[in-house]
Amino acid sequence: MLTVHQTPAIALTTKASRDIETDLLVVPVFEDDTLTDEADLDGASGGEVARARARGELTGKAFDLVFTAVHGWKASHVALVGVGSRQDFSPDRLRRAAVTGGLAARRRRMTSVAIVHRPGTGVTAPEAARVLTEGAILANFDGASYKTMDPPRVWLDTVQLRVGGEGPVVECAVERGRVLGECTNLARSLSNEPSNALTPRAFAERATAIAADAGLTSEILDETRIAELKMGLLLGVARGSEEPPRVVVLRHEPKKAVKVGALHDPTRQVVLGLVGKGITFDTGGISIKPADNMDKMKDDMSGGAAVLCAMAAISRLQAPVRCVAVIPMTENMLGGRAIKPGDVLTSAEGKTVEVLNTDAEGRLILGDALWYARQLGATHLVDVATLTGACVVALGKGASGLFGTPESWVDRVRRASERAGDRSWPMPLFNDYKELFKSEIADFGNTGGRAGGAITGALFIKEFTGDLPWVHMDIAGSAWAEDAKPYQPAGATGVGVRTLAELALDAEAWGNL
Ligand code: BES
Ligand code: MN
Ligand code: ZN
Repeated sequence: MLTVHQTPAIALTTKASRDIETDLLVVPVFEDDTLTDEADLDGASGGEVARARARGELTGKAFDLVFTAVHGWKASHVALVGVGSRQDFSPDRLRRAAVTGGLAARRRRMTSVAIVHRPGTGVTAPEAARVLTEGAILANFDGASYKTMDPPRVWLDTVQLRVGGEGPVVECAVERGRVLGECTNLARSLSNEPSNALTPRAFAERATAIAADAGLTSEILDETRIAELKMGLLLGVARGSEEPPRVVVLRHEPKKAVKVGALHDPTRQVVLGLVGKGITFDTGGISIKPADNMDKMKDDMSGGAAVLCAMAAISRLQAPVRCVAVIPMTENMLGGRAIKPGDVLTSAEGKTVEVLNTDAEGRLILGDALWYARQLGATHLVDVATLTGACVVALGKGASGLFGTPESWVDRVRRASERAGDRSWPMPLFNDYKELFKSEIADFGNTGGRAGGAITGALFIKEFTGDLPWVHMDIAGSAWAEDAKPYQPAGATGVGVRTLAELALDAEAWGNL
């Protein structure tokens, strides 16, 4: 496999645009932008900026790009990247503008960029520093990693940022952005890996290496240990495969960790329990999927990758909360020993499940994993999973579905996702929909039919949360970008990494739930 992402050197600058030495100077432009704060840009471009405006090319529409050479400046070229109207501006717009500029530079085989944050946007200097850093690093990523005949890749090696401020707080924000960007790229590279390379065993090995690098403690549970723990749901899904299952457990134990809060037990520490679906390939099992697009089911471990890489970020940034992660890993295959519709499995918790559809495998492995996270002391749960096609129908591919209880906990995760630029949206958990997945012979079935499929999937998982505060993030649509955008190449998105990290980094503000 070729290297698919690299971290450039990142430096802050306060220089005027004309004095920044770089291959490409990236300047965000608004709709109806007079560029008064960059008044000599048009002259440096030999009037090209004004001509582009006259031709109707320089619109400022989000992520439109106008490229021009500049003379008499230390930069060789300028890219004007549209960021839309001033009203709609947000840190995420700025992050995406940075990705757009960075990708445009690399397409032109340039290795250095400088990105400026225009004055008067309402986005603070530290915020701008964080999102611009994230964007620059997200741009330094390529999806296809097994091509042997392409020309060598070009990577950004130097990034300069002008954010309208400097000092330790801004530098700290750059560091935070760097770690969050790198960990997102790591998750993207894992999700893009084909399933013959990333088997459950290989995934567990990679997880251990990533954990060690980040200073986390890790443990791999093999099939024997999984059987000792009586994880019948995970073992059931794994039965169809020649590849044995694994469960990876990661722990982050900070020196200073937040407590539950005065209203509850002030001596008890919070333990954030993160659980990620790690299906390294989902054929559907005996309830087999159609051939069309089945190749995409190599990304069915994206929730697991998100949890793993978020834990790496949490450790590297020393988030002030204890965390434990449980990532169940297996293939969902057909075979002579595979589970069949109608089979009954017993979960580690003791609840029984009639497998009505072997393609609803994610909720099965998550059930045992959530139970285990509770055994390990989790007080607050979040699971991340490419769980249902129904969620893609409901929200499209541009948002993750959020389910959970209590509402205050769901809202914390939603706000973390907003800071992260991982859009998500709350979805309902109607308790009476439980009757949709009842079983004649077991505690419940594993599917509730097509209608409300994302909700019944979430309600199934809820059965294994022991009524702890819990959020389920359905990333079936958001984990994979079908079409390339100026700010996002086609392929794995790394959704969830920054959301979980932002959530943990914010733990001091959780208060009483
Ligand atoms: N991994 C799939 C969900 C999925 C579908 C992810 C499309 C990404 C894109 C999951 O395991 C699955 O197969 N879910 C079924 C559940 C059904 C059988 C109740 C689905 O959504 O069809
Ligand atoms: Mn499935
Ligand atoms: Zn699946």
